[in-house]
Amino acid sequence: MAKPKILLGVTGSIACYMACDLVNRLVEEKLQVRCVMTQEAQEFVRPLSFEVLSGHEVYTDLFRSGQVEGPLHTVLAQWADLILISPCSANVIGKLAHGIYDDLLTCIVSATEAKVVLCPAMSEVMYQKPIVQANIASLKKWGCHFVGPIKGHLTCKIEGVGHITKTEEIVAAVKRLIR
Ligand SMILES: Cc1cc2nc3c(=O)[nH]c(=O)nc-3n(C[C@H](O)[C@H](O)[C@H](O)COP(=O)(O)O)c2cc1C
Repeated sequence: MAKPKILLGVTGSIACYMACDLVNRLVEEKLQVRCVMTQEAQEFVRPLSFEVLSGHEVYTDLFRSGQVEGPLHTVLAQWADLILISPCSANVIGKLAHGIYDDLLTCIVSATEAKVVLCPAMSEVMYQKPIVQANIASLKKWGCHFVGPIKGHLTCKIEGVGHITKTEEIVAAVKRLIR
């Protein structure tokens, strides 16, 4: 049986480092993984880490298709059985909720028919903002799946809701959704 194909989007959050382990865990589950990073995610972790862990080129630029035949965002949108964005910033949640498709990752989501799973990671203050909650509610209504966030120690060293959920829970959700 063909290995399910997971496109992992990584956005600009301090929780980016956890996405490295997530790639490892998805590969261990015999899933094919391709990674897309926003410009801001690359401030936190270098694409090289994801390239080595996934064993594949990392995609970062909407206008650089490289070896791919056709527009990169449509090729990746059609390739994926499931799109997982982890960590998912408040910014990307906001863009997706409002149909703003101004980079590779958001354009992929705009062009896909695959399931989309978002794992938010942010401070509690950010997470509790009415606009963020409204954006999450809209995306849920339109069929996006959310995993987390959970209560945990945030970067500001204060315990609060907004912490990215545990890697094993993300992997379990992916396995459940691709069945
Ligand atoms: C040190 C640092 C940590 C950040 N952590 C988060 C975070 O956990 N969640 C979040 O939504 N934004 C966080 N931000 C802000 C985002 O990086 C910023 O909104 C950025 O524009 C997101 O870009 P992207 O959504 O295109 O990846 C952080 C910024 C800095 C400088």
